[in-house]
Amino acid sequence: MATMLEFTDAAQERAAEILSRYPDEYKKSAVVPLLHLAQEEWGYISPEAMACIAELIKCSPIKVAEIATFYPMFNKEPVGENVLSVCHTLPCALTGCAGIFTHLSEKLGLKLGETTEDGRFTLRKSECLAACDRGPVLLVNRRLHTHLTPEKIDDLLKQLQEG
Ligand code: FES
Repeated sequence: MATMLEFTDAAQERAAEILSRYPDEYKKSAVVPLLHLAQEEWGYISPEAMACIAELIKCSPIKVAEIATFYPMFNKEPVGENVLSVCHTLPCALTGCAGIFTHLSEKLGLKLGETTEDGRFTLRKSECLAACDRGPVLLVNRRLHTHLTPEKIDDLLKQLQEG
């Protein structure tokens, strides 16, 4: 059985506020906002985090795991400070997303799913990011970058490295 994690006091307050939005019989519906909170708190959704959420909404950790696994935005393993997800769905593929991925891969020395040794960057591919008319598209954490070129990628990496 997974060791129990506990939210910090501030996160516990936010969890309580999230839970207060749901009537008792629908507390389980708070699972997605609680997963977001857990990811902000711990960076990824570990089995221990799933158990923590399950305890809060009084359900099985397996149910929490099913939801966490369904949504790709939830990290199931540790990631870097900046998660770079290149959209590889067809409209972006037609605008050259493969070249953008290769450029990032070469610049960062990463293969798909890897994280830099300093923990700054994780490189991923993503399904459609809902900006199909502005490809190639890259999601960096929660911020979308569109109409990408290798030059724009170089500028972006510089900003991220300096920030
Ligand atoms: Fe890339 Fe939709 S296909 S954003």
